This record gives sequence, structure tokens and C-alpha cells, in this order.
Amino acid sequence: MNKQTITSIQKAKGIKKLSMITAYDTLFAKLFDGEVDLILVGDSLNMSFAGCNDTLSATMDQMIYHTKAVCNGAKNTFIICDMPFGTYTNKKMALKNSVKVYQQTAADAVKIEGGEEKAHIIKYLTSNSIAVVGHIGLMPQNFRSEGGYKIKGKDNNNISKLILDAKAVEKAGAFLLVIEGVKSEAAQAVTNAVNIPVIGIGAGVDTDGQVLVWSDMLGFFEDFKPKFVREYLNGASLVKNSVRQYVKDIEDKTFPSNTEIY
Ligand code: KIV
Repeated sequence: MNKQTITSIQKAKGIKKLSMITAYDTLFAKLFDGEVDLILVGDSLNMSFAGCNDTLSATMDQMIYHTKAVCNGAKNTFIICDMPFGTYTNKKMALKNSVKVYQQTAADAVKIEGGEEKAHIIKYLTSNSIAVVGHIGLMPQNFRSEGGYKIKGKDNNNISKLILDAKAVEKAGAFLLVIEGVKSEAAQAVTNAVNIPVIGIGAGVDTDGQVLVWSDMLGFFEDFKPKFVREYLNGASLVKNSVRQYVKDIEDKTFPSNTEIY
């Protein structure tokens, strides 16, 4: 697969479904490179990689560290760096931190959570040569302020609000939009309302593409399994069984064998 560009991503709408996966390190980024359209260095790494309860304590330094690692592994894939909570609360701060991402990593774009209320920030970033991906619907960075992860788009008022959010983000210059945790009819209405591609996660079948967290879809994250995740591999049991076998081989003195020594 050739590396996507902002133009090819935008042209895909209505023609080809876009695939996105998260990655946090060079090893997995290399495996995903050239296989998917887009890689997101999501602040979800704060949970699945760093073991925290939510994404809120992820820092700019942490995101830059992991984005650098992913960029080192995936040279042929369009890479998006998630801006962590509290790093884009005003436009000057958002630009300063996004410039850091561009200067210190090879990421192609940044992603920020928020609809109408963040449009002025997206506009400021895009007018200063930062490519921005929006993120609406269930926004994990609102976990504490909303008292949990709340599915959106459950009634007509909320669907109208999501459409206003999507249009505001598009008008502000975002070239791509992630919509998370919404009823499928809401995601469909949002997808039809904007000209930029909409990538869904827990948002049904009608979006322009899908994103999953790598450790969920490959079965490495066992703490909880969201309903929308399809597990393509049982990574955790493969790893555990292999480690158990390794320990057994050491104890049985069958590892190393004569062919595994100098
Ligand atoms: O942080 C993340 O991995 C994300 C995806 C769930 C879209 O934002």
C-alpha cells in the first residue's frame, strides 16, 4: 500500500473505506506499516501501555516519545499523533504543542478531541500549517467531567448536535474526523453531513472507515472488551502459552539445545 496523503485521504470518501489502527512503538508500527491507511499514536497508550485508568494523565513528552518510535517503524504510513488532555486548551498552547510534534517527530498530523467548542483552535492550527484530525462523539478525555464513557447520538437533539460539531470541525479546516461511541444512525447522519472522511470506532457500519486500538483487536488487552471490538488474534494467550513453554523448556533442560549454543 502506498503512503496516503491528505489529498488521497480526502478523495477516498465514498470510494474506499479507510483503515486505521493505533500503534505505540517501533516493533508493532513496523508490522502495521504499509498494511493500513493510517496509524494513530493514540493517547489510549496511557491505559493499555502505561496501565493508567484513563487517558487524562498522558503528557506531551510521552506522546512525542511514542510518536517518534512509531515514525521510526512506519515510514510508509500516514501517522497521526493524539494531543493529550490539557495541551490544547487555548489556541496558542495548542500551536506551541503541535509545533513540538512536527519538529520532534515525523508525524503527518495531530488529532484533537472536541466539536464546535474547539473549532477556533482547529482553525488556528490549520492556518498555521498543522494538519488536524477532529474527534467527536464519545471523547475519552471527557471521561471524568461526564462521569464515565457515555454513548452519544441517542436522540434527535444529540444527533443534530453531533452534526453541528462535525460541520464546525470541517469548516475549521480538519481534513479527517474520528467519531467514537455513537449510535450507528448518528454516525451515518454525521458521515453524510460532511465532505471530509469520517472514521468510526464503535460507530456502526456507515462511516468512511474504521479505527481500532491495536491491543484490543489483537487480543493483548484483557482488562475489558468493548462490544464493538473484533478480536483478530488471541495475542494474550499466545504470549502466555509461549512464555509457559519457555519456562518449562528451561526447567526440563531442553533449552538451549546443542544447536542454540556457541
Ligand atoms: O487514543 C486513541 O486510541 C483514540 C482512538 C480510540 C480513536 O483516540
